[in-house]
Amino acid sequence: MTEFVQIVEVGPRDGLQNEPDLVPLSAKLAFVEGLIAAGLREIEATSFVSPKAVPQLADADDLMVTLPRNSAVCYHALVPNERGLERALTAKTDVIALFTSATEAFCQANIRCTVAESFERFAPVVERVRAAGLSLRGYVSVAFVCPFCGDVDPGAAVDIALRLAEIGCDDVCLADTVGRARPEQVTAVFSQLLKTLSPDRLSLHVHDTDGRALDNIDAALELGIRRFDGAAGGLGGCPFAPGAPGNVATQRVVRHLHERGFETGVDPDLITRALDPVLPYLTRPVVT
Ligand code: HMG
Ligand code: MG
Repeated sequence: MTEFVQIVEVGPRDGLQNEPDLVPLSAKLAFVEGLIAAGLREIEATSFVSPKAVPQLADADDLMVTLPRNSAVCYHALVPNERGLERALTAKTDVIALFTSATEAFCQANIRCTVAESFERFAPVVERVRAAGLSLRGYVSVAFVCPFCGDVDPGAAVDIALRLAEIGCDDVCLADTVGRARPEQVTAVFSQLLKTLSPDRLSLHVHDTDGRALDNIDAALELGIRRFDGAAGGLGGCPFAPGAPGNVATQRVVRHLHERGFETGVDPDLITRALDPVLPYLTRPVVT
């Protein structure tokens, strides 16, 4: 039987948060509709962060309530604090994604607090997410390479990932924020985590600067990881991570997985078509 790999499409969130121009809500909506038509079922649609910090996603509340609802499709959103959770719950978000960092320097740059403070912010959020019966994802940014500190000690990434799992994250996602990880780093972090966590609680989110994104995915696949993020067209980047380029293009991930004999339920050509409504607002060429 063909093995299934779950794709989490982060294009509408990670993809659009770093674009200099604002994309109108109607275009975002059509983008998400196209992604669903391409077979994507887990879509990170937006972030309930400060609109001053990320004006590109200031329409999060309106977008989330306008998205087409279909019991097969789950909408994820980033939530940095209780205020964000309040907004996410009101807008009926399905999966709440917390985000912290393996290094203090990136944590300060991204969410303006220490790693310890980020966990203090998460505590009341987790309690309410559990009470609401929603799924929880936790990101470990700069799990392999930090734009401020260089290579990250695998132990530091493992420590944060395990803490996210302990507080109740169903899915702990290790992120190569600046797209510079090497496969041996991916292997080191995941093999350590797999001593404690089952592979179905882990996922990988890669950006692609040095052309190693698919090699890094292969390293995680090798260890039994079956959940990967991608952004349609290779859009994306974190505005608070200098040099953070696009995510790996979902089309490339899907084609690569199909070539390797995995099933994803996703049509890569339809992902390219899904990008049409947002293309007029993008400043960078997209991967097709
Ligand atoms: P802060 O400035 O440190 O502290 O924000 P604050 O709590 O005092 O808030 C400042 C202002 O924001 C206040 O407004 C708050 O009300 C407002 P003012 O009084 O100045 O008018 N505010 C909010 N408004 C709406 N919704 C909220 C909210 N929270 C505060 N939820 C905070 C700290 C983290 C909130 C802020 O810095 C922020 O939102 N930053 C955005 C961080 C972000 O989105 N980063 C990019 C996404 S992460 C990423 O890309 C990495 C990932 O892809 C994985 C990877 O690749 O590594 C996930
Ligand atoms: Mg990212």
